[in-house]
Amino acid sequence: MQNFNISIIGAGNIATHLAINFTKKGHLIEQVYSRNINNAKILAKKIKANPINNLANLKTNIDIILICVSDSAIIEVVNQLNFRSPLIAHTAGSVPMQALNKFDSFGVFYPLQTFSKNAKLNLNKVPFCIEANSEVNKKKLIDLANSISNNIFELNSEERLQAHLAAVFANNFSNHMFAMAEQMLKKHKIPFDILKPIILETATKIQQIPPQLAQTGPAVRNDIKTMEKHLALLTSQHLENLYSFVSQSIQNLKNQ
Ligand SMILES: NC(=O)c1ccc[n+]([C@@H]2O[C@H](COP(=O)([O-])OP(=O)(O)OC[C@H]3O[C@@H](n4cnc5c(N)ncnc54)[C@H](OP(=O)(O)O)[C@@H]3O)[C@@H](O)[C@H]2O)c1
Repeated sequence: MQNFNISIIGAGNIATHLAINFTKKGHLIEQVYSRNINNAKILAKKIKANPINNLANLKTNIDIILICVSDSAIIEVVNQLNFRSPLIAHTAGSVPMQALNKFDSFGVFYPLQTFSKNAKLNLNKVPFCIEANSEVNKKKLIDLANSISNNIFELNSEERLQAHLAAVFANNFSNHMFAMAEQMLKKHKIPFDILKPIILETATKIQQIPPQLAQTGPAVRNDIKTMEKHLALLTSQHLENLYSFVSQSIQNLKNQ
């Protein structure tokens, strides 16, 4: 395995997980940049890197620079970088690779997983979606991804955007439903723990059968009386609309 010298722009969720895992696998993190030097220092200390808060101080005699900032800040950061090499990649699902085309060597290093700075995560099976502007650069990014995961995909920018959209449905929307469910239970002083086994089983079951076949509940059974009882319990128009809309969507998919 080739070890790379890497610098990371950003000190948030992704930057933290990647930097720690790269270091464990023997790569060297040279610099960590954040607008806020304290954020840079917190991450840099964990991996013995140098914290910086000025992009002009970014060293370029390294192998790879990873941009791990919010999607909307990528262009702003790119506009402040006045060099053409080394290889530079961002980690966003929804930003085209061409956003980096002012550099000689560029690509994308998108991990399709949900990362929170303070939640442990084994990167072993995380799908890394790789794209690059040349075969040489693609190989470098694939080698880097292979050093921390066994699950590498080559996706172009359009495919990556589709995958990102699907992930929003699968993860963000599901998680929002968990949060809504927690609020409903809280009002009746029922612990959220009561739902944890069914949430886990929902995710486990679809490892064996397709999600469409795994669907249960009143909507797929067209159990109208139960659905009416539920609607009567909901305390806002917003929740009623959400319940009806999602139930309708379940029925539409069943009838396709
Ligand atoms: N978290 C995930 O689950 C996940 C999964 C896959 C891909 N990604 C992608 O990874 C990237 C980072 O996401 P994240 O979850 O790590 O975000 P995050 O935890 O919110 O961290 C965002 C980072 O961006 C920096 N930043 C924000 N605006 C900036 C600006 N105008 N100029 C310079 N720096 C700026 C912040 O700097 P300060 O420290 O100065 O505030 C912070 O270091 C995004 O492109 C996201 O789409 C995230």
